[in-house]
Amino acid sequence: MKIKDIEDIVSEVLFTEDQLYERLDELAAQIDAEYEGKEPPVLLGVLRGAAPTVHELSKRLKTKVLFDWIAISSYQNATRPTGDFLVEKSLTLDVSGREVIVIDEIFDTGNTFAWIQDRLKDSSATKIEFFALLEKKERHLHDIKPKYIGFQVPDKFVTGFGLDYYQQYRNLMGIVILKVNA
Ligand code: IMP
Ligand code: MG
Repeated sequence: MKIKDIEDIVSEVLFTEDQLYERLDELAAQIDAEYEGKEPPVLLGVLRGAAPTVHELSKRLKTKVLFDWIAISSYQNATRPTGDFLVEKSLTLDVSGREVIVIDEIFDTGNTFAWIQDRLKDSSATKIEFFALLEKKERHLHDIKPKYIGFQVPDKFVTGFGLDYYQQYRNLMGIVILKVNA
């Protein structure tokens, strides 16, 4: 799905498909440089939102990588996430002795990354890094510094490229603010 396919409901285009791909080229080059001559890292994608980012990033890499996926959903109280998650799918690979790059499409409060970091504490991974395509700087609650960040976004609800609006528009190739969220 392209931005022009839904332009009547888009308030603002933050990043086009080409802008996202250009930045992913740069981030892939950074990872290639980091892992040249080293053991392949595990790219650990957080389902469902990270799927397009993992796909587009990994196909740009020259370095070998392993894939794994974790699916979690956040427990909500009446209005806000609690920071606790239900595991729908946990890791499949044994990551001991490997570096892990946890990949999510957006780093917002940091609850997701902090929780995954805690879960991986006893995994014997040699290093855990974080990769987020987008970052909302104003909302961090944890002392987590992702090594790889694509773009900063304003503290508004954004949609596309894995980010959903009621589970839809994850397949939008671009990042937008929808009129309903503007
Ligand atoms: P965090 O745990 O607060 O850092 O947020 C990470 C998760 O919140 C992401 O993986 C998204 O699923 C969700 N999220 C945060 N901001 C947005 C947004 O603007 N649009 C859609 N989903 C979002
Ligand atoms: Mg998510």
